[in-house]
Amino acid sequence: MKTAVVTGASKGIGRAVAEALAREGYDLALGARSIDLLKGLAEELTAKYGVRVFYDYLDVSRNESVEEFAGKVLEEFGGVDLLVANAGIPMGGRLDELSNEDMERVLQVNTLGVWRTVKAFLPSLKERRGTVAVVTSYISTMILPNAGAYVASKWASRALTKTFQAENPEVKFIELRPGMVDTYFYGRPGRKIEEGFMKPEDVAELLIALLKLPRHVLVEEVLFRSVY
Ligand SMILES: NC(=O)c1ccc[n+]([C@@H]2O[C@H](COP(=O)([O-])OP(=O)(O)OC[C@H]3O[C@@H](n4cnc5c(N)ncnc54)[C@H](OP(=O)(O)O)[C@@H]3O)[C@@H](O)[C@H]2O)c1
Repeated sequence: MKTAVVTGASKGIGRAVAEALAREGYDLALGARSIDLLKGLAEELTAKYGVRVFYDYLDVSRNESVEEFAGKVLEEFGGVDLLVANAGIPMGGRLDELSNEDMERVLQVNTLGVWRTVKAFLPSLKERRGTVAVVTSYISTMILPNAGAYVASKWASRALTKTFQAENPEVKFIELRPGMVDTYFYGRPGRKIEEGFMKPEDVAELLIALLKLPRHVLVEEVLFRSVY
């Protein structure tokens, strides 16, 4: 039985990934700040798929929270095979109008959050020759005016992902670069494929397909979006 950690599992892409992994038989460690949502999801997945689901409060913008979460997960399962570093927040606005707090917040969550989460689980992932999937974005190599802080946070998390890979060949690092996905990222979900949106389940199914490839095949990144 393999064990997967999913950050930002309470909603959106992380939640859909958690469900797809449970269906595939993975035991799960789920982290996010909305503990009630995690509790409901854990109960649902255990009842439906019979897998072990651990969940706990996780704020990826804080070192202590990530270290505490990782410590509990490793104690609970003994090790992990897959980390899905998915937790992230949007941030709009011109760079010259952005407050210091907003700039620091988006980098703390989207960039440093990825770094500290991967770092916390890396020894176990190396031991098990595991996989890390980092959800960056379609725009992780592009420029988007009025979203510069978000874009910079994703370029930086792409750079972290590629550097972790170069430094740790025992672990497979996959950069997932979705286009627009219908989640809470844009307020409440309900946007249509015709408007250019994918469903969170589409991202989850792509990841499952990648995980089924032979161990010696590394897909370094996947750039994907909705068509209709
Ligand atoms: N939706 C899109 O169009 C799109 C496109 C490309 C990439 N992405 C990326 O996909 C990832 C998931 O976003 P989503 O679209 O699924 O959005 P979402 O529905 O808003 O979900 C975001 C998830 O991240 C968690 N999160 C936020 N801040 C956190 C923190 N400080 N610590 C721990 N968890 C935190 C949230 O949980 P809590 O609030 O409970 O903590 C939630 O579970 C993000 O990295 C985003 O940048 C999204």
